Amino acid sequence: MLADRIINAVSWRARGALVNSRNACTHVNHWTERMVYQAKARTMLRASGADKPLAHFIKDRPSDAIPPDYSDLWLLFSLVRKKRPRVVFEYGAGCSTVVLAEALRQNGSGFLHSIDSEETWAKIAWNSLPLNLRNICQVGYSTVSVVERSGVKGFKHDNVPDVVLELVYLDGPQLTPEVNVVVDILDIELELPDNFCMVLDGRYYCKRFMLQHLKRAYRFTDRLAFKNSIWEL
Ligand SMILES: C[S@@+](CC[C@H](N)C(=O)[O-])C[C@H]1O[C@@H](n2cnc3c(N)ncnc32)[C@H](O)[C@@H]1O
Repeated sequence: MLADRIINAVSWRARGALVNSRNACTHVNHWTERMVYQAKARTMLRASGADKPLAHFIKDRPSDAIPPDYSDLWLLFSLVRKKRPRVVFEYGAGCSTVVLAEALRQNGSGFLHSIDSEETWAKIAWNSLPLNLRNICQVGYSTVSVVERSGVKGFKHDNVPDVVLELVYLDGPQLTPEVNVVVDILDIELELPDNFCMVLDGRYYCKRFMLQHLKRAYRFTDRLAFKNSIWEL
């Protein structure tokens, strides 16, 4: 009996250690993949000409501003170039704003609406944009309210432009441990056009919430190594 208990305890510990080491390996693999891809993405942004407006955008920003994530930026740039949306909508302004706008400029069509829930960061983003991109985008400020959907507390932006969202980048507002989902897209799901595409950055709980509650037939891509996910109709 005692021998059985010892064997059981040892095997559970061994299993636990195996799971932990497997998780650690996955973590390291994802980190390595992300680092390698960062360099590649930066090269591709340079080759596409998006590096110059990005450099302009970054140069006068406050030193504590979130730095560019090149793999996210390349994903956004290439999606806009490929899908040629008429309306791009961004929640959370920053380096992504200038890259999305530059992609639209290179397309020769389309408009970017960016909203930020912090007035200061909205202003900083707008003031950092090169002049030649300001006629194809706007950066607005919107307060957010806390609402409840399916028993979960979520943020919802109060002032959003009334436009059909074709390509969405969901990267704002800043979440909190108590409110860690954003419900804007859920609330307008039935109005989304057939060419809809959304990139969600990080935001694990938000991803889980969307996967549970969005109802339409999306093609879903989970880019675990890059900590972002894509929904496409
Ligand atoms: C993840 S950031 C958005 C970044 C942007 N989409 C990008 O790719 O660069 C989300 C929000 O955090 C807020 N924020 C708080 N601290 C910030 C900081 N130090 N730099 C930039 N944004 C900050 C801003 O309101 C911003 O919209």
